[in-house]
Amino acid sequence: MSEITRRPRRLRTSPAMRALVAETSLRPADLILPMFIADGIEEPRPISSMPGVVQHTFATLIDAIREARDAGIKCIDLFGVPASEDKDAEGSQAWAADGVLNRAIKAVRAEFGDDILVMADTCLDEFTTHGHCGVLATDRFGDTIVDNDATLERYQKMAVAQATAGAHIVSPSGMMDGQIAAIRQALDEAGFGDVAIMAYSAKYASAYYGPFREAVGSSLEGDRRTYQQDPANVRESLLEVDLDVAEGADFVLVKPGMPYLDVLRAVSEVSPVPVVVYQVSGEYAMIQAAAANGWLDGEASMMEALLAFKRAGANQILTYFAVEAARILREQY
Ligand code: PBG
Repeated sequence: MSEITRRPRRLRTSPAMRALVAETSLRPADLILPMFIADGIEEPRPISSMPGVVQHTFATLIDAIREARDAGIKCIDLFGVPASEDKDAEGSQAWAADGVLNRAIKAVRAEFGDDILVMADTCLDEFTTHGHCGVLATDRFGDTIVDNDATLERYQKMAVAQATAGAHIVSPSGMMDGQIAAIRQALDEAGFGDVAIMAYSAKYASAYYGPFREAVGSSLEGDRRTYQQDPANVRESLLEVDLDVAEGADFVLVKPGMPYLDVLRAVSEVSPVPVVVYQVSGEYAMIQAAAANGWLDGEASMMEALLAFKRAGANQILTYFAVEAARILREQY
């Protein structure tokens, strides 16, 4: 077989050779940890569809962030879970200074200063009785719709409240048109020119968010298809990214992750700002469930999925595995 002159296996012969030629790598600082803070609970509340993830109390939140920081994580993303009696049609606890999320931002900043970046979810769905990402209205046919422009005013108040509480980054995830420009303008007018915006630019109406709905005690009935993107489309994501960058996004985000690696690749080829991917609750649940059954090697599958995001062009990864993966990465080096 001496006619074979090109032998790619030469570069796979040993761990040292493979490390030498690796095109992509993961660092703990690439990973962003989403966390849930709940009001009115005494003990952390496990989320059954996301083994290892909990709704935190204020005390356990601080402890868990300390662990994340010690593992090398640089950024956390906070989601608030208000008591159900605190929800209303507008989601007003989202911008109340004493709303659960804003209190948590303040507590985390007081504890950690600039040692860890505090990002906040800037969306109404956890705070509304109907569970939609915006406020509702009736259109001219008598149908109930999510009112884009009326929602923007609420997002502005929410982002300013989050910045006032000390958020380093706000992250509008509601897919309203014009949300980045509206939030940028409100932040700048309130003197928060230094607060960054991570825009959920390409967010799809996905079944993979299922476990998250349990995680935040969502009251949603129906779906989000009039504002989140259709899984059939990719061009639309490039338009959304263009608009968000023009409106002032500091990061753009693609979500979910694994079923949308092509979208991630396409966005990463054109984006002038860092590209973030969100490995969502359903992706986490699938790996955990298969590992618990002995069907997959959980740790290896987790690391492979995270590396695949980097290979597809992601700069940062939102993942519930952040601390576990960061610890593994630290052992390797
Ligand atoms: C909405 C929001 C959702 C997620 C993050 N922000 C749910 C949705 O759009 O229905 C899902 C995250 C996950 O599944 O891990 N603010």
